[in-house]
Amino acid sequence: MKKLIGAMLACLMAGSLMAAEAPQITTDNGGVKSLRNSADLAIEAPAAQMKNFRKDGDLYTRQYMHQPPLIPHDIRNYEIDQKVNKCLACHSFKNATAMKAPKISPTHFESRDGLTLGEVSPRRYFCLQCHVPQTDAKPLVGNTFKPVDALN
Ligand code: HEC
Ligand code: HEC
Repeated sequence: MKKLIGAMLACLMAGSLMAAEAPQITTDNGGVKSLRNSADLAIEAPAAQMKNFRKDGDLYTRQYMHQPPLIPHDIRNYEIDQKVNKCLACHSFKNATAMKAPKISPTHFESRDGLTLGEVSPRRYFCLQCHVPQTDAKPLVGNTFKPVDALN
Protein backbone atom coordinates (compact mmCIF):
# COMPACT_ATOMS: atom_id res chain seq x y z
CA MET A 1 0.00 0.00 0.00
CA LYS A 2 2.81 2.40 1.00
CA LYS A 3 4.56 1.64 -2.27
CA LEU A 4 1.38 2.39 -4.19
CA ILE A 5 0.88 5.75 -2.43
CA GLY A 6 4.56 6.56 -3.08
CA ALA A 7 4.18 5.78 -6.74
CA MET A 8 1.04 7.91 -6.96
CA LEU A 9 2.79 10.84 -5.28
CA ALA A 10 5.72 10.49 -7.68
CA CYS A 11 3.32 10.57 -10.60
CA LEU A 12 1.56 13.64 -9.26
CA MET A 13 4.86 15.44 -8.76
CA ALA A 14 6.05 14.49 -12.22
CA GLY A 15 2.71 15.74 -13.54
CA SER A 16 3.03 19.13 -11.86
CA LEU A 17 6.65 19.44 -12.99
CA MET A 18 5.59 18.77 -16.57
CA ALA A 19 2.79 21.27 -16.27
CA ALA A 20 5.24 23.88 -15.01
CA GLU A 21 7.64 23.19 -17.87
CA ALA A 22 5.04 23.08 -20.63
CA PRO A 23 5.49 26.04 -22.98
CA GLN A 24 2.77 28.63 -22.56
CA ILE A 25 1.24 28.79 -26.01
CA THR A 26 -1.61 31.21 -26.19
CA THR A 27 -3.50 32.13 -29.27
CA ASP A 28 -5.52 35.29 -29.23
CA ASN A 29 -8.62 34.59 -31.27
CA GLY A 30 -10.32 37.81 -30.28
CA GLY A 31 -12.85 36.04 -28.05
CA VAL A 32 -14.53 34.19 -30.94
CA LYS A 33 -16.23 31.00 -29.79
CA SER A 34 -16.25 27.90 -31.93
CA LEU A 35 -17.64 24.38 -31.47
CA ARG A 36 -14.86 23.81 -28.93
CA ASN A 37 -15.93 27.01 -27.20
CA SER A 38 -13.14 29.49 -26.49
CA ALA A 39 -10.58 26.91 -25.30
CA ASP A 40 -7.03 27.82 -26.26
CA LEU A 41 -5.67 25.80 -29.21
CA ALA A 42 -2.94 24.34 -26.99
CA ILE A 43 -5.51 22.99 -24.54
CA GLU A 44 -7.67 19.98 -25.18
CA ALA A 45 -11.29 21.09 -24.92
CA PRO A 46 -13.71 18.86 -22.99
CA ALA A 47 -15.41 16.35 -25.31
CA ALA A 48 -18.75 17.54 -26.66
CA GLN A 49 -21.82 15.60 -25.56
CA MET A 50 -23.02 12.90 -27.94
CA LYS A 51 -25.94 14.18 -29.96
CA ASN A 52 -29.29 12.49 -29.72
CA PHE A 53 -30.32 11.92 -33.30
CA ARG A 54 -33.83 10.73 -33.83
CA LYS A 55 -34.22 7.11 -34.85
CA ASP A 56 -36.68 7.62 -37.70
CA GLY A 57 -39.05 10.31 -38.74
CA ASP A 58 -40.94 12.15 -41.46
CA LEU A 59 -38.93 13.92 -44.13
CA TYR A 60 -37.89 17.49 -43.31
CA THR A 61 -39.30 20.22 -45.51
CA ARG A 62 -36.64 21.86 -47.66
CA GLN A 63 -35.77 25.48 -47.07
CA TYR A 64 -34.55 26.55 -50.50
CA MET A 65 -34.19 25.16 -54.03
CA HIS A 66 -31.32 22.69 -54.51
CA GLN A 67 -30.95 22.17 -50.76
CA PRO A 68 -29.58 18.71 -50.01
CA PRO A 69 -32.42 17.27 -47.90
CA LEU A 70 -31.65 16.79 -44.20
CA ILE A 71 -31.41 13.20 -42.96
CA PRO A 72 -34.47 12.27 -40.88
CA HIS A 73 -32.90 9.19 -39.24
CA ASP A 74 -29.94 8.08 -37.14
CA ILE A 75 -26.78 7.26 -39.14
CA ARG A 76 -24.51 5.93 -36.38
CA ASN A 77 -22.25 3.11 -37.69
CA TYR A 78 -23.31 3.60 -41.31
CA GLU A 79 -20.03 2.99 -43.07
CA ILE A 80 -18.93 4.82 -46.20
CA ASP A 81 -15.57 3.95 -47.71
CA GLN A 82 -14.04 2.78 -50.97
CA LYS A 83 -15.70 -0.64 -50.78
CA VAL A 84 -18.94 -0.08 -48.87
CA ASN A 85 -21.56 2.63 -48.96
CA LYS A 86 -24.22 1.80 -46.40
CA CYS A 87 -26.42 4.68 -47.55
CA LEU A 88 -26.74 3.19 -51.02
CA ALA A 89 -27.88 -0.12 -49.49
CA CYS A 90 -31.20 1.71 -49.02
CA HIS A 91 -31.09 4.77 -51.27
CA SER A 92 -29.74 3.38 -54.57
CA PHE A 93 -32.19 3.01 -57.45
CA LYS A 94 -31.82 -0.76 -57.12
CA ASN A 95 -32.64 -1.03 -53.41
CA ALA A 96 -34.82 1.97 -52.60
CA THR A 97 -38.21 0.45 -53.38
CA ALA A 98 -37.58 -2.70 -51.36
CA MET A 99 -36.20 -0.64 -48.45
CA LYS A 100 -39.07 1.89 -48.67
CA ALA A 101 -36.50 4.67 -48.84
CA PRO A 102 -36.42 7.70 -51.18
CA LYS A 103 -34.13 7.19 -54.20
CA ILE A 104 -31.10 9.39 -54.78
CA SER A 105 -32.00 11.76 -57.61
CA PRO A 106 -30.55 11.62 -61.16
CA THR A 107 -28.27 14.58 -60.29
CA HIS A 108 -26.25 12.07 -58.23
CA PHE A 109 -25.17 10.37 -61.46
CA GLU A 110 -23.84 13.50 -63.14
CA SER A 111 -20.10 14.05 -63.41
CA ARG A 112 -18.68 17.53 -63.05
CA ASP A 113 -18.43 17.72 -66.83
CA GLY A 114 -22.18 17.26 -67.12
CA LEU A 115 -22.06 13.62 -68.30
CA THR A 116 -24.65 11.24 -66.86
CA LEU A 117 -22.77 8.19 -65.57
CA GLY A 118 -23.98 4.61 -65.10
CA GLU A 119 -23.40 4.74 -61.36
CA VAL A 120 -23.21 7.30 -58.57
CA SER A 121 -20.76 10.03 -59.54
CA PRO A 122 -17.60 10.17 -57.39
CA ARG A 123 -18.49 13.72 -56.39
CA ARG A 124 -21.76 12.46 -54.88
CA TYR A 125 -20.36 9.30 -53.29
CA PHE A 126 -19.58 10.71 -49.83
CA CYS A 127 -23.16 11.47 -48.87
CA LEU A 128 -22.35 13.24 -45.59
CA GLN A 129 -20.49 16.00 -47.42
CA CYS A 130 -23.92 17.42 -48.19
CA HIS A 131 -26.57 15.55 -46.16
CA VAL A 132 -26.63 15.83 -42.38
CA PRO A 133 -28.87 14.41 -39.65
CA GLN A 134 -30.52 16.83 -37.23
CA THR A 135 -30.60 17.14 -33.48
CA ASP A 136 -32.34 19.77 -31.35
CA ALA A 137 -29.07 21.62 -30.67
CA LYS A 138 -29.35 25.40 -30.30
CA PRO A 139 -27.86 27.37 -33.20
CA LEU A 140 -24.28 28.46 -32.43
CA VAL A 141 -25.01 31.90 -33.80
CA GLY A 142 -28.46 33.52 -33.78
CA ASN A 143 -29.81 34.39 -37.22
CA THR A 144 -32.92 35.58 -39.00
CA PHE A 145 -32.96 33.03 -41.84
CA LYS A 146 -36.41 32.32 -43.29
CA PRO A 147 -37.18 29.50 -45.75
CA VAL A 148 -38.42 30.53 -49.19
CA ASP A 149 -42.25 30.77 -49.32
CA ALA A 150 -42.68 28.44 -52.29
CA LEU A 151 -41.39 25.42 -50.37
CA ASN A 152 -43.22 25.79 -47.04
C1 HEC B 1 -31.81 0.99 -43.55
C2 HEC B 1 -32.12 1.84 -44.68
C3 HEC B 1 -31.45 3.20 -44.76
C4 HEC B 1 -30.10 3.50 -44.69
C5 HEC B 1 -28.93 2.53 -44.48
C6 HEC B 1 -30.00 4.92 -44.89
N1 HEC B 1 -31.24 5.48 -45.05
FE1 HEC B 1 -31.67 7.42 -45.44
N2 HEC B 1 -33.68 7.03 -45.38
C7 HEC B 1 -34.24 5.77 -45.21
C8 HEC B 1 -35.69 5.89 -45.17
C9 HEC B 1 -36.67 4.72 -44.99
C10 HEC B 1 -35.98 7.27 -45.33
C11 HEC B 1 -37.38 7.90 -45.33
C12 HEC B 1 -37.68 8.57 -44.01
C13 HEC B 1 -37.62 7.66 -42.83
O1 HEC B 1 -38.37 6.65 -42.80
O2 HEC B 1 -36.81 7.92 -41.91
C14 HEC B 1 -34.70 7.95 -45.46
C15 HEC B 1 -34.56 9.31 -45.67
C16 HEC B 1 -33.35 9.92 -46.00
C17 HEC B 1 -33.20 11.29 -46.48
C18 HEC B 1 -34.31 12.30 -46.71
C19 HEC B 1 -34.67 12.39 -48.18
C20 HEC B 1 -35.69 13.49 -48.50
O3 HEC B 1 -36.17 13.51 -49.65
O4 HEC B 1 -36.00 14.32 -47.64
C21 HEC B 1 -31.86 11.51 -46.67
C22 HEC B 1 -31.21 12.79 -47.17
C23 HEC B 1 -31.17 10.28 -46.32
N3 HEC B 1 -32.09 9.34 -45.92
C24 HEC B 1 -29.80 10.13 -46.38
C25 HEC B 1 -29.11 9.00 -45.94
C26 HEC B 1 -27.68 8.90 -45.84
C27 HEC B 1 -26.71 10.01 -46.18
C28 HEC B 1 -27.39 7.64 -45.38
C29 HEC B 1 -26.04 7.06 -45.04
C30 HEC B 1 -25.25 7.79 -44.06
C31 HEC B 1 -28.65 6.94 -45.24
N4 HEC B 1 -29.68 7.81 -45.57
C32 HEC B 1 -28.79 5.61 -44.89
C33 HEC B 1 -33.55 4.59 -45.11
C34 HEC B 1 -32.16 4.46 -44.98
C1 HEC C 1 -22.39 17.31 -53.44
C2 HEC C 1 -23.55 17.22 -52.55
C3 HEC C 1 -24.28 15.89 -52.42
C4 HEC C 1 -23.77 14.65 -52.16
C5 HEC C 1 -22.32 14.26 -51.95
C6 HEC C 1 -24.91 13.75 -52.09
N1 HEC C 1 -26.08 14.44 -52.28
FE1 HEC C 1 -27.96 13.71 -52.15
N2 HEC C 1 -28.72 15.50 -52.73
C7 HEC C 1 -27.98 16.65 -52.91
C8 HEC C 1 -28.86 17.73 -53.38
C9 HEC C 1 -28.41 19.15 -53.70
C10 HEC C 1 -30.16 17.17 -53.44
C11 HEC C 1 -31.46 17.88 -53.86
C12 HEC C 1 -31.47 18.26 -55.29
C13 HEC C 1 -31.06 17.15 -56.17
O1 HEC C 1 -31.78 16.14 -56.25
O2 HEC C 1 -29.96 17.25 -56.72
C14 HEC C 1 -30.04 15.78 -53.02
C15 HEC C 1 -31.09 14.88 -52.94
C16 HEC C 1 -31.02 13.63 -52.33
C17 HEC C 1 -32.14 12.78 -52.04
C18 HEC C 1 -33.62 13.09 -52.35
C19 HEC C 1 -33.84 12.79 -53.80
C20 HEC C 1 -35.11 13.41 -54.36
O3 HEC C 1 -35.54 12.94 -55.42
O4 HEC C 1 -35.63 14.38 -53.81
C21 HEC C 1 -31.66 11.64 -51.47
C22 HEC C 1 -32.46 10.44 -50.97
C23 HEC C 1 -30.22 11.77 -51.43
N3 HEC C 1 -29.86 12.99 -51.96
C24 HEC C 1 -29.37 10.82 -50.93
C25 HEC C 1 -27.97 10.86 -51.08
C26 HEC C 1 -27.09 9.75 -50.82
C27 HEC C 1 -27.51 8.39 -50.29
C28 HEC C 1 -25.82 10.18 -51.11
C29 HEC C 1 -24.52 9.38 -51.07
C30 HEC C 1 -24.47 8.21 -51.97
C31 HEC C 1 -25.91 11.57 -51.53
N4 HEC C 1 -27.23 11.92 -51.53
C32 HEC C 1 -24.83 12.39 -51.86
C33 HEC C 1 -26.63 16.79 -52.72
C34 HEC C 1 -25.74 15.76 -52.50
